[in-house]
Amino acid sequence: MKTLAIIGAQWGDEGKGKITDYLARDADTIVRFQGGNNAGHTIQIGDEVFKLHLLPSGILREGKTAIIGNGVVIDAEGLMEEMRIVEESGRSLDGLRISDRAHIILNYHRKLDGAEERHRGDKSVGTTKRGIGPCYQDKIARSGFRACDLLEEDTLREKAPAVLRMKKELLELMGDSCECTDDMLIERLLGWGDTLGKYICDSSVLVNESIDKGEKVLFEGAQGIMLDIDHGTYPFVTSSNTIGGAICTGAGVGPNRVSTVLGCLKAYTTRVGEGPMPTELCNDLGKYIMKKGGEFGTTTGRGRRCGWLDLVIAKHAVRIGGITSWAITKLDVLNGMETLNVCTHYEVDGERIDYFPASLSKLSRLEPVYVELSGWEDWGDCSEDVAANGYDGLPKELKDYVSFIEKETGRPDDMISIGKRRSETIDRRGDWWA
Ligand code: IMP
Repeated sequence: MKTLAIIGAQWGDEGKGKITDYLARDADTIVRFQGGNNAGHTIQIGDEVFKLHLLPSGILREGKTAIIGNGVVIDAEGLMEEMRIVEESGRSLDGLRISDRAHIILNYHRKLDGAEERHRGDKSVGTTKRGIGPCYQDKIARSGFRACDLLEEDTLREKAPAVLRMKKELLELMGDSCECTDDMLIERLLGWGDTLGKYICDSSVLVNESIDKGEKVLFEGAQGIMLDIDHGTYPFVTSSNTIGGAICTGAGVGPNRVSTVLGCLKAYTTRVGEGPMPTELCNDLGKYIMKKGGEFGTTTGRGRRCGWLDLVIAKHAVRIGGITSWAITKLDVLNGMETLNVCTHYEVDGERIDYFPASLSKLSRLEPVYVELSGWEDWGDCSEDVAANGYDGLPKELKDYVSFIEKETGRPDDMISIGKRRSETIDRRGDWWA
C-alpha cells in the first residue's frame, strides 16, 4: 500500500505546504481531510509563489487528482477564487474533486465566529474569523449544508427555512443580524453548485479505489496537533481533529490504510492566536526569530509567537498523531545562534512531567525544563549549496540537534528543510512509497 500522510506536530505553520509539494510530485492523488480556509500553505515553484488555503497542494502539479475530502469545511467563494488563481497561472483544474459530504461555510458562520469571539471578551480564542467553528458546530448539530445539497434545489427548499430561522435568532441574541432571506440563501447555494458541481463526487470511493490500484496517495493535513479539538490546548484550538486518526473520518478510509505518517516539526515553536505556549520567548530573542523566520500568518498576516523547541509537544504528537518519522523544517532560521535551548520536560507543582496537561490552570503554573545545545555557524544565503552537500555535509552541531530530537522522541528524521525552495531540502529517505 502506497499511502503517506503529512501532519503538523505543533500549532500549525510548520512548513507543511513545502513538504507536501515536495512529496506530491510523485503522488497520484492528494487528499485534504480536515480544516478549511483557516489553513494557509505557501508553495514556491520556481519564482511563482502560491498561497493556498483550501485547494490541496497537488493541484499545482499536472496530472494529479486533488481531493477536498468530506472532513473539510468549504468556503465556496474562497475556493472559487483559488481556482481562478490556479487557472490564471496556466494550470488545469481537471484533477480537482470535492467530496459530496463536505460541509459548506456560509456568511452566517463567519458572523457567528465574530460574534462568539466578541462575547468571549478577553478570553477570545483568536480565531481566523473564517466561520470554521460555527460550520463544524452545524455539522455536529445536523444543521449543515453539504456539497451534495448544492445540486438539489428540492433539498435546499426543504432545509433552508428552519436553518436560516435558527441562525437569525441566534445572531440577534448575540447583538448581530442576518439580512439573508430563504430565497437569497437558496440562490447562492445553487449558484455555487453550478460552478462546483462538476467536481463534486463521492471522494471516499475515489481514494479507496486509488489505494486498491496501488497508486500513491498523499494525505495533506492542515493546522497542527496542538490545535486538535480533542488533544490540543482546548479551548484555544481549531474545531477539527488534526491528528493522523482524522484521515479515517475526514477522507473516508479505514485505519489500516495509512502506512506512513510524516510529522512536520519546525526547529523551534510558533503559535498564532491565544492560548498556552510553554516555551514562548516574550523577549527580543522571540522577536528576532519572528523576523528572521518570517513568522507572519499566511491567512491573517498576524505575527506568530515564537519560542524554543518543545519536545514534550513533539512526544505528544508522536503518541497521539501516529507519527512514524519527522520532517524537521526551518533549521536555517536558527543559524548563527551560540546556544539553543530544547525543552524536554515540564515542572509543575513540584512534579516533573513529560506529557502535556489538559488543565489550563496547570499549564499556567508549569515551567519548561531545558537542555542547552550548541548552535552552529551561519551559512548566510547559501542554503542551496549546503543542501546540495547532503546530510553529512551539515554542521556537526546541527546534526547533534537533529539526533537529540530523534533520540528524545524515538522517531527518525527523514527530511531536513533549510529554506523555502525545493532545492533547499535534504531528503534522507528517498523512497517514500516503498
Ligand atoms: P479557527 O480555526 O479559525 O477557529 O481558529 C482557532 C485557532 O486555530 C486560532 O488560534 C487560530 O489562529 C488557529 N489556527 C487555525 N488555522 C491555523 C493554521 O493553519 N495555522 C496556525 N494556526 C491556525
